[in-house]
Amino acid sequence: MVAQDKIDEVIKKTDIVDLVSQFITLEKYGSGFRGLCPFHPDHSPSFSVSPDKKIAKCMVCGEGGNPITFLRKIKNISFNEALKELADKAGITVDGLYINKKTDNFSHLYEIMETSKKFYIHNLLNTKSGLEAIEYLHKRGIDDETIKRFEIGLSLNTNNSLYQVLKEKNYNELDMMHLGLIKQNDNDFYDLFRGRIMFPIKDEFGHTIAYSARIFNTNDKNQAKYVNSPETEIFKKHLTLYNLSDAILSIRKMHRVILHEGQMDVIASVRSGNLETVCSMGTALTKEQVRIIKKYTNNVLLCYDGDKAGIDAMLKAIKLFETVDLKVKLVILPDKEDPDSYVLKYGSTKFNEFIENNQLDPLDFIFEYATRGKDFTKNNDVEDAKEKLFINLKDVKSTSSIERYIGLFAKLINVSEASLLMDFNNYYTPQYNKNNADIFEQENSFPSFLEQEYQYLSNYAWAELRLLNYAKLSKGMADVIEQKFPDNDIRPYLEPIHQELWDELNLDYFMQYDDFIEQQFLERLNERLYNCYLQNITSLNKKGDCHIPYNEADMNDCITKLKEHYLEKKAHELDAKIFDANGSEKIMYLTKKVDLLKQLEKQRCNNANFKQNRK
Ligand code: UTP
Ligand code: MN
Repeated sequence: MVAQDKIDEVIKKTDIVDLVSQFITLEKYGSGFRGLCPFHPDHSPSFSVSPDKKIAKCMVCGEGGNPITFLRKIKNISFNEALKELADKAGITVDGLYINKKTDNFSHLYEIMETSKKFYIHNLLNTKSGLEAIEYLHKRGIDDETIKRFEIGLSLNTNNSLYQVLKEKNYNELDMMHLGLIKQNDNDFYDLFRGRIMFPIKDEFGHTIAYSARIFNTNDKNQAKYVNSPETEIFKKHLTLYNLSDAILSIRKMHRVILHEGQMDVIASVRSGNLETVCSMGTALTKEQVRIIKKYTNNVLLCYDGDKAGIDAMLKAIKLFETVDLKVKLVILPDKEDPDSYVLKYGSTKFNEFIENNQLDPLDFIFEYATRGKDFTKNNDVEDAKEKLFINLKDVKSTSSIERYIGLFAKLINVSEASLLMDFNNYYTPQYNKNNADIFEQENSFPSFLEQEYQYLSNYAWAELRLLNYAKLSKGMADVIEQKFPDNDIRPYLEPIHQELWDELNLDYFMQYDDFIEQQFLERLNERLYNCYLQNITSLNKKGDCHIPYNEADMNDCITKLKEHYLEKKAHELDAKIFDANGSEKIMYLTKKVDLLKQLEKQRCNNANFKQNRK
C-alpha cells in the first residue's frame, strides 16, 4: 500500500500544465488553461487545466482528473505506474509501489530483446553490410530519421554474432532460445536471424517483444520475404499491433487510428506525417486487436493493399469493427498498390490527399467491392456482383440503407428496384418453408410469417407488390384501388415497370375481361413484363393460387405506404433543385419542399391513426 500523503505530495509537486502540454496544446484561459480534449472528438477547446486545483478535466466528456488520473488515462497505464512516473520526475521516493507483475516476470526477456535490438542497430550503422542495408532502405524511401524512429537494425550474415553478445552479458541460453533469437545444434548455439533487416515489434507499452526480419539484397525465391519471431510468452501475434505504442498519443490527438497491412506501409504512412498508424502485420485482424484499438479511439481508417486479398481482408475487418461499435472508413488504393508503394511512386502529399479524399463508408465500400471492374452487359458479371452485394447486405440492419443500395444497383444493371429487392429477398430466404404453406388457407389475411421473412424488402416496395396483387383480383378491385389515388391515377406512384404492368392489366386486360385468369393474362405480356410478373407478383402466391387472400385493411395500408413513399421521393428530388437554384427560384423550391414535408407529416399521421384504428 502506498501512503496517501505520498500520493498527495506527488500530486502537489507535479506541474500539471507541463504534464498535459506533453500531450495537447494548451492556451491560457482565465486563471487556467484549455485545449482540445484528447479523450473525445472535440472541436472547441473543452479540456480545462487548473494549475491551482491540480485538475485536468474535460467539461464535455468528463474524462481526466488529477495528474495521476490524467496520466494513467492518456497512457493507458496502471495507477501505480502513473504514480511512479510522476514521483520519479518530482524526485520523490515512494515505498510499497507494486508495478505490473507481468513486467516483472518477463523483465529478463525484455532485457534480452533490448540488448539484441541495440546490437542490430549497431550492425546497421557500423558495418559494411549495414551500408548495403541502408542503401536498400534509402531506395525504399526510408531516410535516416525514419530508421532511427523505428529502431531498424540488421542481423549479420554470421553464425553466432548475436549469441556471442548475449552470452557475454550472461543471459540464460534457454531464454535466448525461447525468444527465437538463438537455436541449438548439437552443442553449438547459432543465430536464427541472419543477413536480414530487423524491424523491432513492440507491445502496447513499448517493450520490444519480437522481430520482423526482411531479406534485402537477394532475389532468392526460396527465402521467405519476412521471417518473424515465434510466438512466445511476451509475443502474442493476435494481441500485437505494429507501432501501437508509438502511435497512442497521436491516435488520441487525431481521434482515429489508421490501419494498414504491413510494417512497410506503416513506416511509409508515418513518414508521410500520419503518426496514428498501425498494422496487424500481414495476418487477419483479430477481435483482440480490435478491442485494443477500441481503448484508444472509436474511429478507424482502414487502408489495406489495393489488390483482391487486401479488399477481401477489409471486408472481414468491417464486420469485426462493427461488433464493437467502432466507426470505420475505408480507402481502396488503386489496384496493385499498397500504401508503401503509393508513397514511393506519388509522394507523401499525394498519398495523404488520396486517403483523406477517398474514404468510403462500409456500405459504399461493399457496393464498390461488389461492382468494381464489372461489365454489366455480361450476365455473369451481373450475377457475381449481385451475389457479392446481397451476401453483404443481408446483415445490414437499416432497411432504408438496403433500399438505397439496391436502388443504386438496380440503376446500374438497368432493372427495376422492386424486382431486385425481390431477388434480394429470395436470396435472403432461398428456401420457402413448406410447413408454413397451409397458413395461406387458414388465415384470411396477408400471411404475417411471409411479411416477416420479407422484412428486407423495403416497406414501400413490399406494399407496391401487394397492391398489384390485390388489383388483379378483379376489375372492380382495380377500380377501387385506382380511385384511392389523386386524380384516380395510381401510375405516378408505381415503379416504371409496374406502371407498364398496370396498364396491361387495367387498360388492356380488364377492358376485355371482368375476371382475372392468370394464363390468359400472361399470354398478352412481352418477355420483360412476363418475367416481372412471375418474379414479383406470383411469387407472393404460393400453392398454385394466383391470388393472395383479400384483406381490406392491408390493402389500405399499402396505399398509404405508397403515397408516403411518393411524397418522400418528391421531397428528395427537390433537394437537388434547391441545391442548384439561386435567389427567388431557390425560395420557390424551398416553399415547395416545406409544403411537401407538411403533406408527408399529415400522411404519416393518417398512417399512424389508421394503424391505431385497426387494433
Ligand atoms: P506484404 O507481402 O504485403 O508485404 O505482406 P509488404 O508489407 O508490402 O512488404 P514489402 O513492401 O514487400 O517489403 C504484409 C505483411 O505480411 C507479413 C509482414 O508483416 C508484411 O509486412 N509477411 C509478409 C510475413 O510475415 N511474411 C512474409 O513472407 C510476407
Ligand atoms: Mn509493400
